[in-house]
Amino acid sequence: MTAKPKVWVARPLFPDVLARLTEYFDVQAEAVERPRSPSELKERLAGVDAAIVGLTDKVDAATLAGNQRLRVVANLGVGFNNLDVDALTRAGVLASNTPEVLNESVADYAWALMLAAARRVGAAERWLRAGQWAGSQMRFDDWLGVDVHGRTLGILGMGRIGQAIARRAAGFDMKVVYHNRSRLAEPLERACGATLVSKPELLRLADHLVLVLPYTAANRHAIGAPELAQMKPSAVLVNIARGGIVDDAALAAALREGRLAAAGLDVFEGEPAVHPGLLALDNVVLSPHIASASEDTRRDMANIAADNVIAALGFGEAAGKPPTPLNPAVMDAWAARKA
Ligand code: GLV
Repeated sequence: MTAKPKVWVARPLFPDVLARLTEYFDVQAEAVERPRSPSELKERLAGVDAAIVGLTDKVDAATLAGNQRLRVVANLGVGFNNLDVDALTRAGVLASNTPEVLNESVADYAWALMLAAARRVGAAERWLRAGQWAGSQMRFDDWLGVDVHGRTLGILGMGRIGQAIARRAAGFDMKVVYHNRSRLAEPLERACGATLVSKPELLRLADHLVLVLPYTAANRHAIGAPELAQMKPSAVLVNIARGGIVDDAALAAALREGRLAAAGLDVFEGEPAVHPGLLALDNVVLSPHIASASEDTRRDMANIAADNVIAALGFGEAAGKPPTPLNPAVMDAWAARKA
């Protein structure tokens, strides 16, 4: 009997998804979530046929150097700026991500952060839990936030998630403006009720600005001090895209100095570390990169990552046809080598 291929699962995963993998593979699954150093990651990837990795696992040419065995790296996320796809392709390793299934849950979460930041939900809860309500002289004009309904929603980056966020705005009677590399097709624009504007206009008009850009070198600090200076002091900023798209130090300064009303952040430059200037503020709602974390969506994402590994390594009903490859040409190269 030939040995089963080895699969390393870098993040704790749903037991039933691990059980599916175990049908085909010798699975080495991590029990705790933590960032790994490049050398530790390189070592873990040596000697396995496939890996399911998380967004803090940075797989690049150096990680892959000398690895003769690895064939698949499945990312637990739609964004894949942690993967150097060109380096994976050069190394003959198939990469995959988890697109589509998370769009609606992430859009829900963008609204959760927007509403929580605008209406000061986090700060109010902290105050209540600290026992400060009873016995306090709470005034009628305490805890005032910024309205969401009837205001202007700005969206920077209008892919599927941006569109899902925009569609929800009709229920809040909001005007929606967006900025994107390219204009949406007219029927989509209509379905979103959204109008394309320039980036300076977006910054100037938005009462609530949601960032949904992919992280690229060009998008690093797309919102920094100069952009924050163009926003309304009453505006709320929401980042559910990637850390590094916002200059967190500049954002902390703007929030501290009252040049921006509030922010809701799910992602951070250098996460899991969070800029101490943000941690010190009450007008920011912070969460640990969980926008896709609903029961159904995280399960779907885990299953898609598993499906990619199973199919790419030639098992299951979809053998040879992984559902969401990022560099499918790698499989042609495998086939050509076999022939
Ligand atoms: C989450 O950030 C993802 O890219 O899926």
